[in-house]
Amino acid sequence: MPLTELPRHVAIIMDGNGRWAEKIGKPRTYGHHKGVDRAVEIVQEASDLGIDYLTLFAFSKDNWKRPENEISIIMNLMVDSLKTEFQRIVDSQVKINVIGNLNDLSEEIQNALEDITQSTANHKGLQLTLAISYESREEITEATRLIIQKVLDGVHKMEDINQDIINQNLYTASLPYVDFLIRTSGEHRLSNFLLWQSGYAELLFDDKLWPDFSKQDFHKALNEYNSRERRYGKTSHQIKQKVFAV
Ligand code: IPE
Ligand code: IPE
Ligand code: MG
Repeated sequence: MPLTELPRHVAIIMDGNGRWAEKIGKPRTYGHHKGVDRAVEIVQEASDLGIDYLTLFAFSKDNWKRPENEISIIMNLMVDSLKTEFQRIVDSQVKINVIGNLNDLSEEIQNALEDITQSTANHKGLQLTLAISYESREEITEATRLIIQKVLDGVHKMEDINQDIINQNLYTASLPYVDFLIRTSGEHRLSNFLLWQSGYAELLFDDKLWPDFSKQDFHKALNEYNSRERRYGKTSHQIKQKVFAV
């Protein structure tokens, strides 16, 4: 089936690296290596397909609870892959943005992320957002603090607070809402990822472990998105009438 309508903003919870490695008798960190290769492939595919926004859950706030060795390997992998992929990112005009509590990260990683975001800031291609040390509830709490401060400073009146103002104070201020959210590895939960932003997202839970999630699986997922009817509270009849009217 041809892709008639691409989601504008795709978000992916890339889950299952550890189980993938354990299944073949390797250390979990081997799975993270393979997971990065998959991420690079899917970013390239999203860029080639002309998707506007791709947000990848790379490391959650809760992932700090993992063994130290695993954490440090994941962090090094992120920086190394950004460096090795740098030229490809520049050539394909991908613009990189990072969301999460970046103060949690080491100075080296903060600098590497700053370098890549600054050097791709004027790119016009796919906007790739990496969620690192990210937690949706923390983001919403932080936005609440910022808004209260603005009310105290007289920037906003309390009665003017609306959804737009909330959006402007989230880490994702420059992004549209999520249209399509994919989670791999057969888990059926959001694990605190983009809760507000995915309020009307189409959800797809794929049983494949992330290192096995291929370009073909991505296409299959996009075809599934194409077959969904996004009704936003209306009736199916209303939606069809509108489609035929244009
Ligand atoms: C996702 O894979 C990657 C990160 C959370 C960093 P996991 O490491 O969670 O893999 P599983 O879920 O244990 O298999
Ligand atoms: C969510 O996966 C975070 C990332 C994919 C980066 P987890 O594997 O950490 O989530 P839980 O703990 O199973 O909910
Ligand atoms: Mg997991």
